[in-house]
Amino acid sequence: MGLLTPLSLLVTDLDNTLVGNDRALDRLNQVLHRYRQTWGTKIVYATGRSRASYQDLATTKPLMVPDALIAAVGTEIYLSSSELPDREWVDKLGSGWHREEIVTIASRFADLAPQPAAEQRPYKVSYYLSASVVTAVVPRLQELLSQQGLDVEVIYSGSKDLDILPRGGDKGTAVQFLRDRWQIEPSQTVVCGDSGNDIALFKYGRERGIIVGNAQSELRLWHELHPVDYHYLAVAGYADGMMEGLRYFRFIA
Ligand code: GLC
Ligand code: MG
Repeated sequence: MGLLTPLSLLVTDLDNTLVGNDRALDRLNQVLHRYRQTWGTKIVYATGRSRASYQDLATTKPLMVPDALIAAVGTEIYLSSSELPDREWVDKLGSGWHREEIVTIASRFADLAPQPAAEQRPYKVSYYLSASVVTAVVPRLQELLSQQGLDVEVIYSGSKDLDILPRGGDKGTAVQFLRDRWQIEPSQTVVCGDSGNDIALFKYGRERGIIVGNAQSELRLWHELHPVDYHYLAVAGYADGMMEGLRYFRFIA
C-alpha cells in the first residue's frame, strides 16, 4: 500500500471512530506509522473523554502516542506529553463562561441527568438525555441559556450525551487553533468522526473529512444537509472506514 499525497495532520475521534474494531485499528496504525516516518505527519486525537479517561483507554488499546490530545470535547488541548492543558487555549475559553449559572439553569430540566463527576470539567458540563425528549428539551435549554446572556454551545452526541461548552470551545475550533500554530493547510489535513461532537470537526474549514460507516444519526443528518466534495461518508466502519476515506482522498493507494 503506497503513500501518494503528503498528509501533514490527521485528526481523529477515538470511541467508535479510531477505536471499535481492533484488527482495523492495527491495520491503520501501520499506515500512520509509515506516514509519520515518511512525512512527519502529526497525529491528534479529538475526544469527548477527559484526559484521565483517555489514559484508561490507552492502557487497553494500542493507541499511538499522539502529537496532541484534544480532550473534553475540545475544551482542553494537551501537547505531546504535557501534563497541563495548553494555556493559550484555556485563556481563550475563560471569558464569558459562567459554569455555576449554567448548572443552575440545567438543573431545572428533570430529563437532564448529570454525568459522573470525573467527566465534569472546568469548561464542560455534561448530562445524559434520552433521545425521545431531545427535541423538546434542547431548544428550551438553549433559549434559557441565551436569555441569561450565556454564550455556549449545546452538543448532543450518540443519542445520549449532552455537553455544554463555551462557544468556540469545540473540537473543530481546537483543530483550527492547532493548524494555525503548526502552520498546516486544510488540504493536507484529514478529520475523522462518528457522532454529534464531531460535527464541529467538519463545519469550519475545508479539511478533508471522513465520516465512518457506523456514524450516528446526528452526524449523518448533518452531512446530508451540508454536502461538500471534501467530505466522505465511508461504507466501512471504524478504522476501516478511515482507511477507505484516506484512499478516496488519494492519501494512500
Ligand atoms: C465522552 C465523554 C462524555 C461526553 C461524550 C460526548 O463520552 O466522556 O462526557 O458527554 O463523550 O461528547
Ligand atoms: Mg465517537
